Amino acid sequence: MIGKKSIETVQDFDMVIFGATGDLSFRKIFPALYYRLNEGQVKPKSRIAAIVRKKEDEVNFKIILQKNLENSVININSAVLNDLLSKVDVVSISDNSAYLKLEDWFKRSFNSVRVYYLATPSTVFGSIAKKLHEHNLITIQSRIVLEKPLGKDKGSSNEINGEILAYFSENQIYRIDHYLGKETVQNLMVLRFANYLFENSWNSNHIKSVQISAAESLGVEKRGDYYNQYGALLDMVQNHLLQLLCLIAMEPPSMLNADEVRVEKYKVLKSLRLINNQNVEDCAVKGQYSRGGTNEMMLPSYLEDIEDFSSETETFVAIRAYIDNWRWKSVPFYIRTGKRMSEKFSEIVITFKNVPHNVFPEQKNFINNKLIIRLQPKERIEFVQMVKVPGPGGYRYKPVSMKLDYQESFKGRFPDAYERLLMDVVRGNQTLFMSNDELSASWDWITSISNAWKETGHKNNLYKAGTDGPGDEILLNDDQWHKNSSE
Ligand code: BG6
Repeated sequence: MIGKKSIETVQDFDMVIFGATGDLSFRKIFPALYYRLNEGQVKPKSRIAAIVRKKEDEVNFKIILQKNLENSVININSAVLNDLLSKVDVVSISDNSAYLKLEDWFKRSFNSVRVYYLATPSTVFGSIAKKLHEHNLITIQSRIVLEKPLGKDKGSSNEINGEILAYFSENQIYRIDHYLGKETVQNLMVLRFANYLFENSWNSNHIKSVQISAAESLGVEKRGDYYNQYGALLDMVQNHLLQLLCLIAMEPPSMLNADEVRVEKYKVLKSLRLINNQNVEDCAVKGQYSRGGTNEMMLPSYLEDIEDFSSETETFVAIRAYIDNWRWKSVPFYIRTGKRMSEKFSEIVITFKNVPHNVFPEQKNFINNKLIIRLQPKERIEFVQMVKVPGPGGYRYKPVSMKLDYQESFKGRFPDAYERLLMDVVRGNQTLFMSNDELSASWDWITSISNAWKETGHKNNLYKAGTDGPGDEILLNDDQWHKNSSE
């Protein structure tokens, strides 16, 4: 395993997972706990309470959990699996005694760190926090983890945050955005702040544009009910893509700690130029996938997927954003995300300006230097430069990529984002979690776009499932969407 020798254990903890039978728990939270246990980071006295809804789930839960882990964990070690299962106690929330049972559960503990993980819809966050308070279950060493989406607009987000802040202080609240736990996303900060080369040219004097894409080939799968209420703007842009934009655009923090990093990201969000009724038509496109694919493999439309033929929810968004500050004056940040696109990849492309004077007049198609940061899959960093083609007969050039491939450079398994983030919660490190200020600023920007769409009657552009979606006009003809260059 990568870095196995240097892994430091975290303090023993009690983790209470609300929504333990949900997709997120089985797919992400429990596998993350397994891997951390397997790599020796979780100490022996740590315990987990899985909160389930129905009484009958108490009996079946561990059997289902075991099957899920056996299916999802690579090369599972049965001793570690049994160890993890032995740490789990199942508590059903079907009657009023659930919180009394939790009180009892904590009485049997020697651990001071308590983590409440709310993997539930945000509509019940407030009532859970209130119950925990009423049963005196919130201690100074308690932390609460909130899954997105926190609300649907600025107003509902403020309301939910207010309900939590009534019982937990800001330094106990961990608003999780799993993109921040991805290895390659963390490497963005290392790339910028541990290398001298880039920082001098990291501004509008040298950078022509930035593209941030998160494309997915799958549709909405079994999450249609959830997705149809939110759409791509709230599901992906409000959180993941804005966080990526912040990491690219922020000023260097004076130290890598939560206060310093989060305040710099907040400043970026506050500087985003508002998109409103006047400019929404020019700056933001939304789309929805229609039936596509090939004769051999037809892909259903979004409406067929969710079996609601009147839905106007967008499954694709492309935005041209500007950050109104000195560093980024007039540099377009193109943001794009969509479901059922031609392939799954997330990447950031920094396009540099062209040379100020061309000393090779015979060369017509000079390309701009590009720094391509591939977040997934096949994580890597590429630097595209013009190179002379070897041989006699004068100068001939072509663009060639210099590549740093993560898998080749660092052999082994890359930990999933949730592994890092869960351990950070136990350690009490909020650097990779969103602050309330960031959240509020991101909602200002996003709510302005969604209101403008509503008020101007902006419609979805249809795109065929399996294609790259609409949204080219956002580029104002001065660029092209970067084509995936994974091979
Ligand atoms: C989630 C969204 O937050 O991120 C999903 O709710 C999306 O709709 C997912 O599929 C994408 O995450 P990743 O890590 O696969 O890029």
